[in-house]
Amino acid sequence: MSKIIDLDWNNLGFEYIKTDFRYISTWKDGNWDKGSLTDDNYLHISEASCALHYGQQCFEGLKAYRTKDGSIQLFRPDRNAERLNSSLRKLLMPEIPVEKFIDACIQVVKANEHFVPPYGSGATLYLRPFVIGVGHNIGVKPAPEYIFSVFCTPVGAYFKGGLTPCNFNVAEYDRAAPRGTGHTKVGGNYAASLQAHKLSADKGFADCIYLDPATQTKIEEVGAANFFGITKNNEFVTPKSPSILPSITKYSLMEIARKYLHMPVYEREVYIDNLDEFKEAGACGTAAVITPIGGIEYKGKLHVFYSETEVGPVIKELYKILYGIQFGDIKAPEGWIYKIN
Ligand SMILES: Cc1ncc(COP(=O)(O)O)c(C=O)c1O
Repeated sequence: MSKIIDLDWNNLGFEYIKTDFRYISTWKDGNWDKGSLTDDNYLHISEASCALHYGQQCFEGLKAYRTKDGSIQLFRPDRNAERLNSSLRKLLMPEIPVEKFIDACIQVVKANEHFVPPYGSGATLYLRPFVIGVGHNIGVKPAPEYIFSVFCTPVGAYFKGGLTPCNFNVAEYDRAAPRGTGHTKVGGNYAASLQAHKLSADKGFADCIYLDPATQTKIEEVGAANFFGITKNNEFVTPKSPSILPSITKYSLMEIARKYLHMPVYEREVYIDNLDEFKEAGACGTAAVITPIGGIEYKGKLHVFYSETEVGPVIKELYKILYGIQFGDIKAPEGWIYKIN
């Protein structure tokens, strides 16, 4: 094991820190090349690239975790590979074999091993795989060439404070259309969310809650994370909608709730007018892990779930198990962990 570099691991935010190597592969004439590592953190692409003008690009986010014995592991990278392929299909971009995606992630982690934060700091190495349409093109059509890259950066908590409740308000704008790209991880969804996020942040909220764009009655997402609630009957409930990004963390929590906590689990409509059904609520995602939702402001009134300052017992338990699995302290369900040797 190489020596871990010296950084203020306990106070790391969610910011870009340049690491030593990234992976790059190019698609031309119907094929992906073998791909390789480079120390250059800039891309040199045509000014007429589709990614720049028509948003033909998509990405993923996953993490490498250091365990107690100093080894390193990935959490469900096959799921990120599959979701990337779903985004690629939506934008008429060439798919990437799952093995190629996982191999690229492993190469990047190994080459930057000394940037994987120490066990116990709570920090992780965040991997950002992305695919962009490049080559010379001016009309609105798919690009002639593509770049697949994976870079990494060490990160701490996404929402300041880690497992402390945050307040959210209901967004003034939509992030995705009912039959649009909401279920895929394409850059345009995030560009479309910047203004709504700023309006919420300016009012002191951590982020905004997006309602379903067609009826504005059902919860869809919490910023760049999925919503879940624990009902007063102790059920795990999370919204069902074709315009939500299928969160890998959310599906993992559903399994944890079912298998480890023996809770009934439902994916169904969650009405903004019926928040009273929940005793606890949270936002979940790779970056956010679990962020307890203190309260949601809707039509000028703040609805508080468990508490604005304390974390509820069920969310505490879910967090403990998920965190334990990701950092190797709790045995994971079959196939969730990819060890890096
Ligand atoms: C819009 C959105 N929703 C939900 C999530 C959470 O997904 P995951 O748990 O796979 O990170 C993310 C982050 O990837 C996201 O960007």
